[in-house]
Amino acid sequence: MSEFPPLRNDLLLRAARGERTERAPVWIMRQAGRYLPEFRALRADHGFFEICRTPELATEITLQPIRRYSGLIDASIIFSDILVIPQAMGMEVLMNPGPSFPDPLNTPADVAKLHQKVDVDKELGYVFKAITRTRLALKGEVPLIGFCGAPWTLFAYMIEGGGSKTFTKAKTWLFKYPEESKALLLRVADVCVDFLVGQVKAGAQLLQVFDSWAGELSPHDFTLFSLSTLKHISKGVHEQLSKQGISPVPMTLFAKGANYALDNLAKESGYDVLGLDWCIEPSVARKIVDGKVALQGNMDPNVLYGGRDAIEDAVKQMCAEFQRGTYGQAGAWIANLGHGITPGVDPEDVRWFFECIHKYSAT
Ligand code: CP3
Repeated sequence: MSEFPPLRNDLLLRAARGERTERAPVWIMRQAGRYLPEFRALRADHGFFEICRTPELATEITLQPIRRYSGLIDASIIFSDILVIPQAMGMEVLMNPGPSFPDPLNTPADVAKLHQKVDVDKELGYVFKAITRTRLALKGEVPLIGFCGAPWTLFAYMIEGGGSKTFTKAKTWLFKYPEESKALLLRVADVCVDFLVGQVKAGAQLLQVFDSWAGELSPHDFTLFSLSTLKHISKGVHEQLSKQGISPVPMTLFAKGANYALDNLAKESGYDVLGLDWCIEPSVARKIVDGKVALQGNMDPNVLYGGRDAIEDAVKQMCAEFQRGTYGQAGAWIANLGHGITPGVDPEDVRWFFECIHKYSAT
């Protein structure tokens, strides 16, 4: 492992480990992205996956929001995508402008087309290199988050061949071929474990798993098909790190739309932080998780289109709700949006969002 400069802002890590902090650490999902003119300028000259595969470019883009919002932002997240895992398993993925798979998995027989074993150092070493490079370039200003997609969300992309409104194809697999589906989900989960462990070895200081399509499943099917693989990941990462004598890092699960599962996730998923979307009141989430995990979230990203007053009101409300502490311990909180930021937002309104979090979350 490389020697890294000492961390100067550990708010995120303290909150993730369950401490209440003097103010809420804040970052934004998809913070390095199309709402930033400096991102669009670089992207104009490079393909999306070209950037992911070029450590210099991935580092540069990861640092863009850190530079722009220096002193206001408390975490960086490595520039990459959840779809690098299907690529590592042997699938072609294009970005035009959304993700598309020219050759998706139509039937269980197609699983034979995937690589039998995935050597993450060989297939995804470019992410590890980007992480190490970024960690050095950050000079300890803020911690660096590594991430991957959750098996169910990746499975859905690999079968649908892109985004979907109904998830008919992926769900056909679940209900017509439940055993083959579970086997594929587990294969993806094993790659996730190796990939996340590699990211920690490369320098990631917290790991987030994105289950963006969790809310498409019924509670029963989430438990059956997703939760088991999410647990497989948290357990596997902890076991592998401990076997290799490496200290564990906090893990966050963002299971969008799975608020019905919060109780279960807090009790038995093995994650330190649960990310919330905006469809649950923070005070209700607090009560459900009962101090067992830290929470992250959850302003509706579209509030950022509403102007400064709307942003300030929403932040004030969110801070009060997360920090009211009327039930048991108030608990730890990482301020964020309830999903990724979208392309049309004014970067100065994002600055205002950060400023409001600093002001209203101070205890
Ligand atoms: O958060 C960050 O700044 C780090 C980078 C990051 C990206 N994607 C960069 C990206 C992260 C953490 C992701 C995760 C991701 N990717 C998810 C999970 C989070 C979520 O939003 O639910 C998902 C579902 C994907 C798959 C994906 N990648 C889609 C659906 C799209 C197209 C639509 C969109 O939201 O932009 C992408 C492309 C993508 N990934 C872009 C960026 C900056 C824009 C692509 C471009 O430059 O053309």
